[in-house]
Amino acid sequence: MCVHLTTNASLLTGSETFQRAVFLIHSPGKLLPVIEWVAIFLPLVFHAGLGIWIARTGRINSSQYKFTSNKRYSWQRWTGFIGLIYLFLHIMHLHGGMHYEGWMSAMGKIGFAQFRPYNAGSSLVHAMNLGYGIVWPAIYLVGMLSLVYHFINGLWTAGITWGLWITPKAQQRATKVCVAMGAVLTVISLSAWAAAVLPSEEDAVEMRAVEDRMYEMGVEAGTVPEMEEKRDMREREMLVEEPEGGYQVSTGADEPAS
Ligand code: HEM
Repeated sequence: MCVHLTTNASLLTGSETFQRAVFLIHSPGKLLPVIEWVAIFLPLVFHAGLGIWIARTGRINSSQYKFTSNKRYSWQRWTGFIGLIYLFLHIMHLHGGMHYEGWMSAMGKIGFAQFRPYNAGSSLVHAMNLGYGIVWPAIYLVGMLSLVYHFINGLWTAGITWGLWITPKAQQRATKVCVAMGAVLTVISLSAWAAAVLPSEEDAVEMRAVEDRMYEMGVEAGTVPEMEEKRDMREREMLVEEPEGGYQVSTGADEPAS
């Protein structure tokens, strides 16, 4: 989560930086789905399954006891639940779940599977603009902040389970460290969110030209594997400001690389 959000926040410094990072992430090529399932999806499914089991067997008592730790216990459950729904929507929205062509095009028709790794920044910005530019940003904001809380509070309680901070003094120290980590992660996640949400359609057109140039030069130099299916071949109509101040319709795909 920390690495993922930091990579996404790098879009703030320009689409080149983000595109370079995504080229690197996608460099395992055909092995990538295996890595994703073994290192990301299966551990997530395991964690979600365990979480649901714990939530079903545990008893919330924050309505009887008003201690902060009782409240934190129920927030931990709620944020886990919200985070799970968010992660499902997020993975479907951008990644699509599976890389098969038929599946991807079916998902694309209902507004999912929107991310194109070789046009990383521009396809991310477009994906966020679907749903009037409000629905997805709102889902991301609530989901991300829930996951930050769930991760940090979970770390604190895990420290007790593992016997790392047992005494009240040790727990106070751990609280300070966890709050500081939570604050840093909140800033990083808000940066990732802003980087994806703030750019306009015009910015996306410029990003796309830069990404296309990076792809073509990478393929020529042999540093990027030629995989046309990872490029954004969709034609989108968007309004682009002309130098005189008027607007013209652009498809983005036809933009000359400058
Ligand atoms: C503004 C916030 C976020 C942005 C812009 C973002 C962006 C992305 C993108 C572009 C992908 C597709 C990657 C690909 O197909 O190569 C992705 C996948 C994924 N994201 Fe996020 N993400 C955000 C927040 C989060 C958070 C908070 C989590 C929670 C841990 C998360 C977990 C995942 C997972 C598990 C995948 C699928 C695995 C993968 O594709 O490698 N994301 N995200």
